[in-house]
Amino acid sequence: MPYIKLISRRICQYSILKTKEALPKLLTINGKEYPTSNKDTNVTQSILNLTNRNLHLNPNHPIGILRTIIETKLNSLSPYKTFNNFSPIVTKWQNFDSLGFPPTHPGRSKSDTYYINDTTLLRTHTSAHEIECFQDINDDSGHNWRGFLISADVYRRDEIDKTHYPVLYQMEGSHLWTRPRETSNMEAEIKSLQSTLNEMLINNKMTLTRCQDEVEPPTETRQDYMTEQETKLCEMHLKTTLEIVVLELCRLKNMKDVKMRWTNTTFPWTQPSWEIEIWWDNQWLEICGCGIIKQDLLLKSDFEKDSTIGWAFGLGLDRIAMLLFGIPDIRLLWSNDKRFIGQFVEGQINTFKPYSKYPGTLRDVAFWLPDILQDNEEIHENDVMEIVRDVAGDLVESVKLTDEFIHPKTHKRSLCYRINYQSMDRNITNSEINSLQEKVRNELVKKYHVELR
Ligand code: PHE
Repeated sequence: MPYIKLISRRICQYSILKTKEALPKLLTINGKEYPTSNKDTNVTQSILNLTNRNLHLNPNHPIGILRTIIETKLNSLSPYKTFNNFSPIVTKWQNFDSLGFPPTHPGRSKSDTYYINDTTLLRTHTSAHEIECFQDINDDSGHNWRGFLISADVYRRDEIDKTHYPVLYQMEGSHLWTRPRETSNMEAEIKSLQSTLNEMLINNKMTLTRCQDEVEPPTETRQDYMTEQETKLCEMHLKTTLEIVVLELCRLKNMKDVKMRWTNTTFPWTQPSWEIEIWWDNQWLEICGCGIIKQDLLLKSDFEKDSTIGWAFGLGLDRIAMLLFGIPDIRLLWSNDKRFIGQFVEGQINTFKPYSKYPGTLRDVAFWLPDILQDNEEIHENDVMEIVRDVAGDLVESVKLTDEFIHPKTHKRSLCYRINYQSMDRNITNSEINSLQEKVRNELVKKYHVELR
């Protein structure tokens, strides 16, 4: 899920003064206190409650099992130092500025990111920790670390359906070469990776098809401080490493004919940059963004000028876990129900057996948006989603816009959202749903001054 594509839909701009609920002056998160700000704080208690779940550290949870499989495979190729305990609270500088995100990048907006206050937020990607990891392995010179791996929860305001949740797990990886000591060995390292990949194909009777014909020519050129040869070798090392990871996952799923492709993309801190997509269940599934690290980031991490080259990737774990373990709804990953968590064991890819399907109940909420006056305040679709999440949490399966029109005379805009109330673990009663729906309606009026229909 590349960060670049995360742009939520603005549904209204209005200039009525918002009645803000009184925020506590301080938020205590995992034992630490953070000041709030009326203008910037948009994180809710229901989101903060998810910050100490650490599914990636649970050895018997699909996310933890998958994290261990990938970590083990990568460490069999090169020594990577592992960081799995970073707090999700980072500064705006760590998450955006240090990586070269332009000031106007949509990922920074309050509609897409959970802010604790003006300078502090819930990380939206594990790349927020790249600099501190580079600095750490640079200082830790006793070990010959060749790179690092980070696994962690990341937070994004987003729509509500079977594949979207406000928390995701990512694994970040990076590999470095010191010039000329290590770069002189790059070709040999790539040969060794290629033979690992070929052995995996032969031993498991698998084939790997790279569907490159559908892909457009590269849009980004190499960085000036790297030679053409170095750029090519770095790209080959990165791509072969990630192909080995893909093959390992397909092998565990017993997939024999693996189809994948590399597409070009951009990230502010890599050049050139790519995405890897796998053909899975009859569609292209994008699993990973990656690229050659810009020298600027290495300089910020205290490496000497022109001393070091390397690559980085960021891999989304949730979608892969859902496919590997056959989990149909992302909310299940967060379930504490023994009928779910009891099905998974360290080191095994068990296919999830549904224990029961509880029926869903549809409820519509329709409203007129406030008048458009000036460019003061905005409502995004994600704000509507957030209200539903905060009121009903995991009791909602999906929220969809089902109708939208403008009144010919008053020019007011009307929206209708359809909420599917459905639990993974139990039946929800009608009166429970009525009370949730009433709360959603009231919150929409209170926060955004909509006129209910
Ligand atoms: N952080 C990026 C994302 O979330 C992925 C990425 C990581 C890209 C490292 C390049 C290098 O989409």
